[in-house]
Amino acid sequence: MSLRTLSINAFLLLGLCQVGRRGLASAPELTQQPKKIAIVGAGIGGTAAAYFLRQEFGPGVQINVYEAGTVGGRLATESIREYEYESGGSIIHPLNLHMKHFVDKLGLSPRADVPSKMAIFDGNELTFEESDWYIVNVLRMLWRYGFNFLRMHLWVESVLDKFMRIYQYQQFGYCFTSVERLLHAMGGDDFLSLLNLTLEETMLAGGFSQAFINDIVTPIARVNYGQSVRIGSFVGAVSLAGADSGLWAVDGGNKKVCSGLLYHSKADVIPARVTAISVKTRPAKRGAVTSFYEVNYVGESGPAHSLYDIVIVATPLHQDLSDISFSGFSPPIRSHFSGRYHQTVATLVLGQLNISYLGTGQKPSDFTFTDVLTTDNKSLAINSISSLDPTHIPPRYKQPPTSQTKVWKVFSPEPLTESQLSEMFVSREQVWERRWLAYPVYRTPQRQAPPFILHDRLFYLNAIEWAASAMEMSAIAARNAALLAHRRWHSQTDRVDQEDLHTRLRGEL
Ligand SMILES: Cc1cc2nc3c(=O)[nH]c(=O)nc-3n(C[C@H](O)[C@H](O)[C@H](O)COP(=O)(O)OP(=O)(O)OC[C@H]3O[C@@H](n4cnc5c(N)ncnc54)[C@H](O)[C@@H]3O)c2cc1C
Ligand SMILES: *[C@@H]1O[C@H](CO)[C@@H](O)[C@H](O)[C@H]1NC(C)=O
Ligand SMILES: *[C@@H]1O[C@H](CO)[C@@H](O)[C@H](O)[C@H]1NC(C)=O
Ligand SMILES: *[C@@H]1O[C@H](CO)[C@@H](O)[C@H](O)[C@H]1NC(C)=O
Repeated sequence: MSLRTLSINAFLLLGLCQVGRRGLASAPELTQQPKKIAIVGAGIGGTAAAYFLRQEFGPGVQINVYEAGTVGGRLATESIREYEYESGGSIIHPLNLHMKHFVDKLGLSPRADVPSKMAIFDGNELTFEESDWYIVNVLRMLWRYGFNFLRMHLWVESVLDKFMRIYQYQQFGYCFTSVERLLHAMGGDDFLSLLNLTLEETMLAGGFSQAFINDIVTPIARVNYGQSVRIGSFVGAVSLAGADSGLWAVDGGNKKVCSGLLYHSKADVIPARVTAISVKTRPAKRGAVTSFYEVNYVGESGPAHSLYDIVIVATPLHQDLSDISFSGFSPPIRSHFSGRYHQTVATLVLGQLNISYLGTGQKPSDFTFTDVLTTDNKSLAINSISSLDPTHIPPRYKQPPTSQTKVWKVFSPEPLTESQLSEMFVSREQVWERRWLAYPVYRTPQRQAPPFILHDRLFYLNAIEWAASAMEMSAIAARNAALLAHRRWHSQTDRVDQEDLHTRLRGEL
């Protein structure tokens, strides 16, 4: 046996021990397991946390998930005629491995493929029209922007390549105490500097043309984050990855993952709003003092409280999003961190689009674009218009032509007025409006992200949104918090904030 196969075997063994360790740790003669864990928020972050905490702590611990609104949070659907349509987070990247894993594990499946075609509108006319022919698109791009398009692809791929390292780290049980450390472990100083430069600065420095940035990159940033190319480069790269091919959604609606994770992790949902979390102490055996958390909440039957060993906050602690007061903590924890969330209004319209509004002379029946993005034009009220397909594609489904009444989704920073709607649509049967505080307002240089650890065993997931907000990011933060919680519970400091993981793990192979 060569040294190399030996080390591979050792490596496999290590992997096995990792699984075994969980079983061992749950034996009462080692360390006592936590009895109760609270999670605040049943969006994808909170429900993924329930899943990963169950994985870490085994079947004995009680997991309570508090939800003031509806399970799914920013993953939500609207019911229109006999179908459901996504009104919040809708697309998932093919390399979002946690989301993929959840869907497999829960017996869900990706929604059937439906064709899509993109155009870009500058407030006056369509400045870019995707063709049905791949080769035509490539030639058009080459003609107008040289190799910018290909180079963009390579840049996003290189960021994604480093991003993917997090899955290996997490599989080996490594976790991080801050967003910055997590990003640093993925891509070193280069990755951290992505937080401090705007997407525009990074691309200009990388030799991309201003025309390409304005015409192509800006519309993508606008549709995905409602903001300009002055967002940070990390979230910018995530946004551009959202224009890759192979994007998918969950059959029946993305929020099904959240309810599935709750069910799978045998967590109890408590329909209540958490109002306060405080730290309490009580004397334990042999003169030691143990601390635990009191969660105060208001449910249908009025105010109440419960005690927990571990608490995970899985909702943004920002103005107008969650009002939770923290008491008894030293240093104190603020209810709201600085920084705001960006308003994106999703208006779903069952109606007939006025394609003249898009400055095209085409006949409605010939207009086959499903996604119309926009350039940065101050007099434009909208960020995008998309034709929506149901969350479940029925057999023999055909996308209705633009000449017919169908479901459209308009993203805009402000609610659309009656006159704006009547200019955009020839006819409207019904309109649904959802005002989201959707994702952070991204500014550079970026102030430090809020911490993942608010107190000893009190964790905060949504700090990760300051790097980038996406379903997968919340899932990554959830797994990180579950690992941190497990480490801290067992007073282990190994595998926390380790440097040079990439080289070391490669060395182990
Ligand atoms: C319009 C829109 C489009 C998007 N598009 C995409 C996309 O295409 N792809 C993608 O990956 N991401 C997308 N996102 C981002 C994505 O939806 C979010 O990053 C993700 O869903 C956040 O999940 P979360 O669990 O961290 O937070 P949330 O989903 O916000 O969950 C927090 C939950 O906590 C609850 N809560 C708040 N306060 C309390 C309290 N005091 N007590 C009890 N419960 C409380 C809330 O009701 C909520 O259900 C989009 C978001 C929006 C709004
Ligand atoms: C910006 O939008 C307005 C209103 O839709 C339009 O009249 C104008 O031509 C647009 N500007 C550019 C530069 O396209
Ligand atoms: C980013 O900018 C902030 C504020 O200027 C600074 O404090 C921080 O160190 C910078 N971070 C990096 C990684 O350059
Ligand atoms: C359609 O849009 C065009 C251009 O904005 C506008 O002139 C026209 O009045 C609109 N049509 C309807 C029926 O509102």
